[in-house]
Amino acid sequence: MDERDSLIDLLIHDLTGPLTIASTNINNLLNKEDRYGPLNDRQRNALKMSLRNAKKAQTFLHEMIEVYRSEEGLFRKEQCSVPQILRDSLFEALETFEPDTFEKIFTIERNEDFFQILRDSGIFVNIEGKYSTTPFIHDQKKLQQIIRNLITNALKYRKQRVDISIKGDEELIVMVEDDGSGIPQDKQNYIFKRFLCAQDKPKGNEKGLGFGLSCVKTIIETIQGNITLTSGEGKGTCFTVSIPPLNS
Ligand SMILES: Nc1ncnc2c1ncn2[C@@H]1O[C@H](COP(=O)(O)OP(=O)(O)OP(=O)(O)O)[C@@H](O)[C@H]1O
Ligand SMILES: [Mg+2]
Repeated sequence: MDERDSLIDLLIHDLTGPLTIASTNINNLLNKEDRYGPLNDRQRNALKMSLRNAKKAQTFLHEMIEVYRSEEGLFRKEQCSVPQILRDSLFEALETFEPDTFEKIFTIERNEDFFQILRDSGIFVNIEGKYSTTPFIHDQKKLQQIIRNLITNALKYRKQRVDISIKGDEELIVMVEDDGSGIPQDKQNYIFKRFLCAQDKPKGNEKGLGFGLSCVKTIIETIQGNITLTSGEGKGTCFTVSIPPLNS
């Protein structure tokens, strides 16, 4: 086992457990007051913030694990429901970056209500093509990581609006567009490099690590997919990803 492998093992085994325990316990404090005792508003808010951050760390860890698995050529071949993956990606992105919208959609079951609340929050979703009804053969966690990262960035940088469009009859095509300040031409290559952030922190958010897009790119390269970017200063940003089914 080389040094890198043992570092990855350490991350997987030694951080996953404690993070799971932290978030499970915070969750219990928040949602089982009959058992753990009542909370006042300040305590509840402090716990909610702790939970969001514990989840952020869990997501980051899982992200690293999936990148590592991709680099090693390790994929799970599964029947993936694209609408479900999109829903889960939206939940994850909103829970961390727009908790108010997340709380509104969290318990919604009817699809129409779900998409209406999203539209009211400036998030427009369109799913068409084969995979709106037929499973896509791929690795669910990796698909979710790609889609969640693009949505997260669009939410962080949008002024008002995010458009998510899914289509494709052979390859799966995912487009995520925002109306934010855009990425200048000369920065467009280096945003895919690990730990480099092309611009100052987005409004109202902590500065990111500059990790998300590099993970997306690594995964996409290992699955023979493609990612393109259309953007310009003041013109918003649109990422388009095409992904062939696994082993086609
Ligand atoms: N939709 C977007 N609009 C404007 N800039 C963007 C957009 N998406 C990415 N960027 C730029 O590309 C950089 C790299 O994106 P990336 O997702 O890798 O990192 P991050 O979002 O800053 O942090 P992390 O994803 O690790 O939390 C960002 O810091 C930002 O400068
Ligand atoms: Mg990001």
